[in-house]
Amino acid sequence: MPCSIMDERHAAVTRQQNRRLKRGINSMEWGMANRMAQVIQSDGHALFLPVDHGYFQGPTRRLEEPRRTIYPLLPYADAIFITRGVLRSSVDPDNSKPVILRVSGGTSMIGKDLANEGITTSMEEAIRLNVSAVGISIFIGSDYEKESLLNLSKLVDEGEKYGIPVMAVTAVGKELEKRDARYLALSCRIAAELGARVVKTYWCEDFERVVRGCPVPVVMAGGPQVDSELEVFEFVYDGMQKGAIGVNLGRNIWQNDFPVAMIKAIRAIIHQNATPKEAQQLYSSEKGGE
Ligand code: 5RP
Repeated sequence: MPCSIMDERHAAVTRQQNRRLKRGINSMEWGMANRMAQVIQSDGHALFLPVDHGYFQGPTRRLEEPRRTIYPLLPYADAIFITRGVLRSSVDPDNSKPVILRVSGGTSMIGKDLANEGITTSMEEAIRLNVSAVGISIFIGSDYEKESLLNLSKLVDEGEKYGIPVMAVTAVGKELEKRDARYLALSCRIAAELGARVVKTYWCEDFERVVRGCPVPVVMAGGPQVDSELEVFEFVYDGMQKGAIGVNLGRNIWQNDFPVAMIKAIRAIIHQNATPKEAQQLYSSEKGGE
């Protein structure tokens, strides 16, 4: 595709996203606006790299040694989503990216119910770690719906006091089949109503319905690794066209055989409005170098 057409398409999408984002940012206090701008780039888009999976999954495949997974990918991420333990042990304070601190947990894959989370990390600790945002899961429709929503509300109260944005994660636990537009729209809207500044959800069919009902920026997670790279490029592209501001995409990047090629291709969709085909071409040419 000629550069000028791609640039023009990118510029149009960017203008639209910027307007949306700036509306929010203009009404924020300086500290909150500054932290939001650390994680969401000036084009209004964002690539968050989640490496928090160990907090309930243990040594997840290809995240067994977090430092080895994180460092090759860090240059291409706008922010990392991470627990305090992995942050302190596996990320150098003088060589990092903006941090979104995972502050909910207390459950495991083999425990009774993944939804039964509490807040694991205080706001004081988040400030001490100089994070840009904090993240917490909510479990709509679960036995612990109310607890997880009240946890979110408390965290928002604390975060607003110190100018720290809260990202709500619309978690489904082991019930991956829940990920449809009706359920995700419900979850995202509730998260926004309770004060989340950003909502992380899953891509789904009719994704525009999810974004339309959510008055704060939405980022997409990937869930377990899918069959092909193209499938990832297609859902990320589709979600962006339908109003997501970016991704919080983990396993489909770092469980890929060529994770650097993968993150570069995803980055091109998010920040250069590359099509799935262009992303696939970039992936194919970059994987030779890994
Ligand atoms: C798991 C999370 C992850 O941050 C989120 O699910 C994104 O990762 P992936 O793309 O691998 O699903 O909240 O704790």
